Amino acid sequence: MTNETAYTLRDATPEDVTAIHEIVTEYVPEGLLLPRPVEDILQRIGNFMVAENEEGKVIACAALRDFGNSLYEIRSLAVRKALIAKGIGTALIKALIVRAKNKADHARVFALTYRVPFFTRMGFEIVDKQSFPEKIWADCRFCKNREQCGETAVAMEVSKE
Ligand SMILES: CC(C)(COP(=O)(O)OP(=O)(O)OC[C@H]1O[C@@H](n2cnc3c(N)ncnc32)[C@H](O)[C@@H]1OP(=O)(O)O)[C@@H](O)C(=O)NCCC(=O)NCCS
Repeated sequence: MTNETAYTLRDATPEDVTAIHEIVTEYVPEGLLLPRPVEDILQRIGNFMVAENEEGKVIACAALRDFGNSLYEIRSLAVRKALIAKGIGTALIKALIVRAKNKADHARVFALTYRVPFFTRMGFEIVDKQSFPEKIWADCRFCKNREQCGETAVAMEVSKE
């Protein structure tokens, strides 16, 4: 038996919305991800990248949200449960960082996460959540967990090479 999983990364299309919704929803009951309605995913499908396996099945997703002023947030990062710890999540984040680099000469990429070592291993640093008022205004103030948010903010500065 081999541990290798063949997959490719690509930009998401509207046909991927159902699969993305299913993957994100897998992690909602344990509180690792917040639910995202299908309509919201469809509306922001241009933000998403997906990993697909050799059969063309979507097995992971992640989104890069543009807050303007060269600030980007990694959101809705999830890998199918059966396929975690095979490097797919890392590959998706690296691809989104390249995307951010292509959009701005100097960009700041951040995430709010429970998986701090996963991000710091890639070069992200722990930062104060309050340094992202854009995020707080857009999402946190509506979140049911806002009073006891256990997520840590991590961020990375990236520059066009
Ligand atoms: C967090 C998540 C996206 C990471 O994706 P992943 O594909 O499992 O990540 P990777 O395989 O690249 O790395 C994850 C771990 O596996 C290890 N790993 C990487 N490649 C590996 C391999 N080939 N074999 C075994 N382990 C491996 C890494 O060291 C890492 O360890 P960690 O647990 O200390 O972070 C995924 O676990 C997930 O979907 N979790 C649930 C949703 C969630 O928490 N999303 C994050 C919101 S910010």
